[in-house]
Amino acid sequence: MFKVAILGYRAQGANHHAPSFVKLTDCQIVAVCDIVVERARAGANRYGVPAYTNADEMLEAEDIDIVDIPVGEGYRYELVMKCLRRGLHVFTEKPLAGAEGQYRIQRSDVPVAQEMIDEWRRHDVHFGICFCLHASRNVRRVKQVIQSGQLGQLRQIQARTALGSWNHIIDMVRFLSGEVEEVFAYADGEEMGNKAACLKFESGAVGTLAVSQDLGLQFQIKWIGELGEVTIDNIAGNAYWHLHNSHDVTHWSDARQLDGGTYTAQFEDLIAEFVASIKERCPFVADGWAGLRHMEIDAAITESIRTGKSVPVRRYMPDKGHTILTLT
Ligand SMILES: NC(=O)c1ccc[n+]([C@@H]2O[C@H](COP(=O)([O-])OP(=O)(O)OC[C@H]3O[C@@H](n4cnc5c(N)ncnc54)[C@H](O)[C@@H]3O)[C@@H](O)[C@H]2O)c1
Repeated sequence: MFKVAILGYRAQGANHHAPSFVKLTDCQIVAVCDIVVERARAGANRYGVPAYTNADEMLEAEDIDIVDIPVGEGYRYELVMKCLRRGLHVFTEKPLAGAEGQYRIQRSDVPVAQEMIDEWRRHDVHFGICFCLHASRNVRRVKQVIQSGQLGQLRQIQARTALGSWNHIIDMVRFLSGEVEEVFAYADGEEMGNKAACLKFESGAVGTLAVSQDLGLQFQIKWIGELGEVTIDNIAGNAYWHLHNSHDVTHWSDARQLDGGTYTAQFEDLIAEFVASIKERCPFVADGWAGLRHMEIDAAITESIRTGKSVPVRRYMPDKGHTILTLT
């Protein structure tokens, strides 16, 4: 049985993270901590466990295996570092850092994320990031078709997203298409609510990634190979693929995606996979490296917007920068 502490109990903690951990038969929530006493008490009452308003006190007093840290980027560093230093498994939200907020990641945020990676590497623990699209059934199906080679080599990727999914879609584009080598980007103002980037992948393929704060559509990713193409539309949508020389289209939908429960189900599935990866001592697909790689790409996009120049994506590569781009 894994003893789980919830550290931060506002929207994500209360609605998605804690309910996902409590559903797992091999997890038990043992404490809830929030600096806002009403929130700490609300969580503690819900799960019948002690409430804390001080993380150090909780970590000192409780016997804990996993700390779930569903907080915004402004709070993340301090809490993640103190839990990793204690050799605890950590699951947290994205992005890993962001002094100007999650939609304006900049170069100076990357070393903050790197420090978390360095601390993680000192301990034999799992460090998971809540990039919940990794648990989307359509993303898994699409990844399997790409991995099978039926669509041939990647030629181009076209991705667009509403602002709220920006971090996730950068991570997805990388997961589906491989490492990004260089970016060139524009935005329509300093707020960067509407931006577009050209991406050059390590494989030689190219792609575009656009975000709009006005977009109703959550996201669309179109992966175009030399033999065929595959598209994912939305969290609550469809995925479909066909070969270029055929009119036969394979469609996928997900029953969960029609009942409004998909969003919640993705948290449940990703957190279940995180716990399983600890139990089985195997790598977790949305791990700290995925969190860091997102930061590196996002920071390069911001730098390109601000300088008007193309920017190489500098990857932090200790031990060749272990990173998972394939499904097992
Ligand atoms: N994965 C997703 O699909 C998804 C969706 C929405 C939001 N998010 C992410 O979730 C994060 C925001 O979540 P939120 O709105 O619940 O978080 P928040 O940052 O608004 O709230 C975090 C909670 O942690 C508490 N807290 C802060 N410092 C603390 C400390 N030292 N000790 C104890 N408690 C402390 C705060 O009081 C607050 O209650 C963002 O990073 C965002 O990107 C992810």
